[in-house]
Amino acid sequence: MKNIDAAAHTRGESIYLDDIPLLQGTLFGAVFGSPVAHGVIRSLDLTEAERMPGVVRIFTYKDVRGENQIGGIVPDEPLFAERHVHFCGMPVALVVAESEAAARAAVKKIRVEIEPLEVITDPRIAQARGELIVAPRTFRLGDTDSAWKSCAFIFEGRADTNGQEHLYIETQGAYAIPLENDTIRIYSSTQAPTAVQRAISKVSGLPMHCLDVEVTRLGGGFGGKEDQANIWAALCALACVHLKKPVKYALPRTDDMVMTGKRHPYSSDFRIGLDEDYKILAYEVTLYQNAGAAADLSPAVLERSLFHCTNSYFIPNVRATAYSCRTHLPPNTAFRGFGGPQGMFVIEAAIVKAAEALGVDAALIQKKNLHRTGDEFPYGQLAESEAPACWQKAEELYELEALRAEVAVFNAGHALFKKGIAVMPVCFGISFTKTLMNQARALVHVYSDGSVSVSTGAVEMGQGVNTKILQVAAAAFAIAPARIKIQATSTFRIANTSPTAASATADLNGRAVLMACTEIVARLKRVVAEEWGVDAERVELREEAVWERVKGRSLEGEETGEGQRNLGRSLEGEETGEGPRNLGRSLSWKQLVLLAFTKRVNLSEHAHYATPGIHFDASREKGHPFAYHVYGTAITVVTLDCLRGRYEVDAVKVVHDGGASMNLIIDRGQIEGGIVQGIGWMTVEEVLYDEEGRLRSNALSTYKVPDIYSVPRRIDIDFLHTQRDNLAIFRSKAVGEPPLMYGIGAYFALRNAIRAFNPAAELAFSTPMTPERALMGLYSGGGPAGMTNEGEERAVKDGQGKRAGNEQLSPASGEGHE
Ligand code: MTE
Ligand code: HPA
Ligand code: MOS
Repeated sequence: MKNIDAAAHTRGESIYLDDIPLLQGTLFGAVFGSPVAHGVIRSLDLTEAERMPGVVRIFTYKDVRGENQIGGIVPDEPLFAERHVHFCGMPVALVVAESEAAARAAVKKIRVEIEPLEVITDPRIAQARGELIVAPRTFRLGDTDSAWKSCAFIFEGRADTNGQEHLYIETQGAYAIPLENDTIRIYSSTQAPTAVQRAISKVSGLPMHCLDVEVTRLGGGFGGKEDQANIWAALCALACVHLKKPVKYALPRTDDMVMTGKRHPYSSDFRIGLDEDYKILAYEVTLYQNAGAAADLSPAVLERSLFHCTNSYFIPNVRATAYSCRTHLPPNTAFRGFGGPQGMFVIEAAIVKAAEALGVDAALIQKKNLHRTGDEFPYGQLAESEAPACWQKAEELYELEALRAEVAVFNAGHALFKKGIAVMPVCFGISFTKTLMNQARALVHVYSDGSVSVSTGAVEMGQGVNTKILQVAAAAFAIAPARIKIQATSTFRIANTSPTAASATADLNGRAVLMACTEIVARLKRVVAEEWGVDAERVELREEAVWERVKGRSLEGEETGEGQRNLGRSLEGEETGEGPRNLGRSLSWKQLVLLAFTKRVNLSEHAHYATPGIHFDASREKGHPFAYHVYGTAITVVTLDCLRGRYEVDAVKVVHDGGASMNLIIDRGQIEGGIVQGIGWMTVEEVLYDEEGRLRSNALSTYKVPDIYSVPRRIDIDFLHTQRDNLAIFRSKAVGEPPLMYGIGAYFALRNAIRAFNPAAELAFSTPMTPERALMGLYSGGGPAGMTNEGEERAVKDGQGKRAGNEQLSPASGEGHE
């Protein structure tokens, strides 16, 4: 089934925050953010700004009626700066004016004097100063101290991954509308309506039942709106409460880039030990997370980095320590993968370091160490592993050896273009790492005309969750999708929602929907059974009708779907197309609903689902935190222009463990999108702060996002159809985040291409591998040894006809690319 939004998106009819028709008298906000990353406010002069035309009022912390505090996990984040500022862009004042232009013009007239204090942007320096967001955490398995003695080879190193700008197409924003009796409706571009509701409640002092946070959809979130949508909503709500007028603030792109946090940069030290046979015996890692100026979600992100610090590998002795370091950057936050990618990059770097030193292919070490069912993760859970299956299938299906041979032949034949290949296995745990968040609710109404309304806490942000939820309801009622409407997410319809995050939204909300529908179905069946005077077990919903099964085989036998063949025609005379053998009476769905309504049967249900069996004890750092894991393996091939440093991803070939996918079209889209976003993080996207903590990459002219030319020339996706009962929905598996980590392969493939050109290249394990860095790498370590005259001649030939621009990069133009 296609994404239910596809048609309206294509026609440009879908509604986002900025498309909501404005009420008369709507006012507009604009934030004055701190121009300095760290300092003490000596004076704030609003007089000139207040005199600007159209300005209604300027708010500061003094206007906060409740608490001036929006920190979710740790209360360390004021909504407005009071005396101190902690990052560039930290909100100091909110101008509210009659137009956006007036509000922005007035912001420019605000004068502030800030006595600057020392700015820290490096997490290692922060850690050395004891500037930690929370106490460090250590995951342990076995005993690394004694394991080193048994290692034949030990390697140490450092790995650094940079941040990443979310660059959702729809920027952050909110629109608050006063209703009667202190009630406010807030439209918010948020992944977490309840978090917004809670934040506003805290800041305004209004109870949560006064606050209807409504979300129709997001133009992307990617984690950036899990926590950081709260600020703008709280600001709008605050002004709305004071002025009793609708207040809207949709951030201009630069404000959004400057004021919001991003993926956490990490700096890490690793030590890896292997035996003669290249089995990894021990792994120690220390992660320094650059949390920025406030906790935000950093402690949870940190935890997931630890959970995924061994990726798909079984390592018997592990010690992983992680520090969440307070710096003077905007608070960094959730981003697809939620710390997992950062943890995985380090173990991959460690393996590559070992492989390079031992002169073997990294894949040899990777494959040997994939975990198997029953192997223990450092956090105590036992693997139900598809890691070897995914690897094996990728190796065979995509003919890994042949690919390698092609790369070798290409490299032997080209002096100035080199290809690189890398394999990236992924293992990602599904469930919020915080157990209590793994719950969801659904409210299902069947109306008397047979149409169905479904509300959940899920937020549609392009990932297709509404389509999957609709599929669940359609299957449960056995009715056409067109009869069902997924309502906008609202805190008045569904309370206490977890954010749409952790890839688990369809799992959690889909289960709740299934429970609610199943309950209604049971009631409907009872009505019919009574009406017909038969056993309710004999009543069956199929293809928009309810049927009586007459000549029964055993009911178990009919569970297999054989019953479907026994359908006749419904009362409306619609041919089902299947033979009318063993079924008797039937009613159409509409008749059924009307009958139940006439008999005063409840046609609505609210259900609650909580993932069973998961737990985690943070005092021991052991437990069973994940309902299940998603696995996959990606093979990445790149071509590098060794004269210019430009590169292209030729192919990403994936075997992805999707369980029994509910929707292959959507899952494929998620995998392709995740791969491209992951490649962007590893290659062209470079978040750059200067030493004063100012964002230099604050616009699309200075921050390169992957474009069509960054997309691999081909992405092959094969699904490993596993059937394990996995606590997802209909035996599918979550898909949102895991594919991002396939993108990590692009970094290592590029590294291999560089080394094919210059085996002596000195390459730090540091991302992103921008074309500039690739170029520097190519000529590092004294430069490529083979640059003889002959090589140069070849180089000239290779380079002929190659121009900057969008044409194919590879000299073998047209060859090897379909
Ligand atoms: N896909 C699109 N198109 N837009 C998004 O914002 N967010 C990703 C992923 N895929 C995102 C996306 C992130 S970070 C997560 S956690 C999941 O979707 C959340 O949705 P799910 O739980 O329904 O998979
Ligand atoms: N993933 C995503 N978001 C979260 C998580 C998680 O595990 N925990 C809290 N927020
Ligand atoms: Mo996704 S980072 O869990 O919103």
